[in-house]
Amino acid sequence: MDGGEGRTGRAGKGSGNKQPRCVKCRDPVFQITRKPKGFMFFIVVASSLVLLAMNINVNMDKLLYKKIAILENCSDVIYGLARRRMINLIPPTWAELEANFSKTGIQLGGRWKPKNCTSRIHVAIIIPFRDRDSHLRVFLNNMHPFFQKQELDYRIYIVEQKAGTIFNRGLLLNIGFVESAKIDGDAYDCFALHDVDLIAENEWNIYNCSEKVKHMAANISKFKSGLAYEKYSGGVAMFTKWQYTSVNGYPNTYFGWGGEDDDLYERITNNNNAGFSRVPLDIGRYTMIKHERDSGNPVNPGRVRQLQSSYKRRKVDGLSGLNGTYTVLKIDEFLLYTRIYVDVDPIAVLSAIPVNLYGEWELKQMRKWVNKTKS
Ligand SMILES: *[C@@H]1O[C@H](CO)[C@@H](O)[C@H](O)[C@H]1NC(C)=O
Ligand SMILES: *[C@@H]1O[C@H](CO)[C@@H](O)[C@H](O)[C@H]1NC(C)=O
Ligand SMILES: *[C@@H]1O[C@H](CO)[C@@H](O)[C@H](O)[C@H]1NC(C)=O
Ligand SMILES: *[C@@H]1O[C@H](CO)[C@@H](O)[C@H](O)[C@H]1NC(C)=O
Ligand SMILES: *[C@@H]1O[C@H](CO)[C@@H](O)[C@H](O)[C@H]1NC(C)=O
Ligand SMILES: *[C@@H]1O[C@H](CO)[C@@H](O)[C@H](O)[C@H]1NC(C)=O
Ligand SMILES: *[C@@H]1O[C@H](CO)[C@@H](O)[C@H](O)[C@H]1NC(C)=O
Repeated sequence: MDGGEGRTGRAGKGSGNKQPRCVKCRDPVFQITRKPKGFMFFIVVASSLVLLAMNINVNMDKLLYKKIAILENCSDVIYGLARRRMINLIPPTWAELEANFSKTGIQLGGRWKPKNCTSRIHVAIIIPFRDRDSHLRVFLNNMHPFFQKQELDYRIYIVEQKAGTIFNRGLLLNIGFVESAKIDGDAYDCFALHDVDLIAENEWNIYNCSEKVKHMAANISKFKSGLAYEKYSGGVAMFTKWQYTSVNGYPNTYFGWGGEDDDLYERITNNNNAGFSRVPLDIGRYTMIKHERDSGNPVNPGRVRQLQSSYKRRKVDGLSGLNGTYTVLKIDEFLLYTRIYVDVDPIAVLSAIPVNLYGEWELKQMRKWVNKTKS
């Protein structure tokens, strides 16, 4: 893409006088090709090639416009994918990041698509977020190039929870799913639900959707055996719009760390519609950025108990129960991502579910929990 700019620059300068000269000198070349005369022949051929190249450059813009008008589908084989890519865990500054990526044809909001073909994969990357600025910079620095190499048509959404309530990953992912569609309409039919601290290592791990829900984070550096545990569905997972809707999304009611992705796994596997699949361990490799536990995201002590009775609430605890549980405070389109900044109302989240679907004791505990741990 750098080269492209350079060429257009040169062509612009030469376009005033070079083109007519070149047109004139074409005829002699053709004559000489019929009667080659040793050294002179090579001189003429070489110089005419140079002039021809310049001529092509002059017409470059026109050619490009023509190409855009009849953009072909990208090839289903993507060349040059690396099985082990270099990962840079040093957080760059925002200025460095923007300077580096402004040349890649990225559009405001962290949107990108291949220039020379129509991507087969249209994916919204949804990231629940709070207070992890340096992780975000590492993520963007590594993953923008990764997504671009896979020739995705994509956009990165950061769903940020306002301070003051306990972090709720599942709820934020549901919000991202719903709010991104309000912004983009049907532009993306595939959703990557992605933690900000996971950096993909293998470019063969294609961010597309498949017939079943696809769990991507099969092999995370932090876990000895790679896979956290057999029923793990967290970290990174791919859903079509239909798949996510058919499981009613994540549960909304898990405040604090843990439980929500086990609940999701149950939803997927107990649902006749959406099946569960996982990429192989050598493909689904991720480096986890090391960090301390966030103070606004304490381990949820009730998560196991909540999970046990969760099946009763599945129909109402999820996308269907989202209404009135949050307020979008602001939507920012930065160069490298779109930020959806939300205020979450924990009491409204719990109240959206009929009381008889909780145990009485449970509901009391949950209310206490979301109240107690305001940070
Ligand atoms: C491109 O792919 C779409 C399906 O993704 C297909 O409907 C369309 O015909 C394809 N276009 C070309 C030019 O192959
Ligand atoms: C589009 O460009 C990329 C490199 O920028 C290349 O790998 C790919 O083959 C090209 N696709 C088409 C359809 O020309
Ligand atoms: C910017 O890109 C250059 C060249 O690809 C790379 O060497 C450098 O590390 C990048 N800077 C940052 C901040 O990532
Ligand atoms: C997704 O990508 C994989 C790997 O390239 C490919 O085998 C699979 O067919 C793709 N799935 C779809 C639905 O295109
Ligand atoms: C899991 O990833 C690690 C590197 O992070 C790699 O050494 C290991 O071979 C992978 N496991 C499998 C089964 O491929
Ligand atoms: C959400 O609730 C409001 C009233 O509180 C209602 O007008 C709206 O239709 C509801 N939206 C959905 C999708 O249920
Ligand atoms: C939780 O806090 C709200 C006000 O923020 C209060 O009205 C309610 O009684 C509290 N509930 C519990 C169970 O502490």
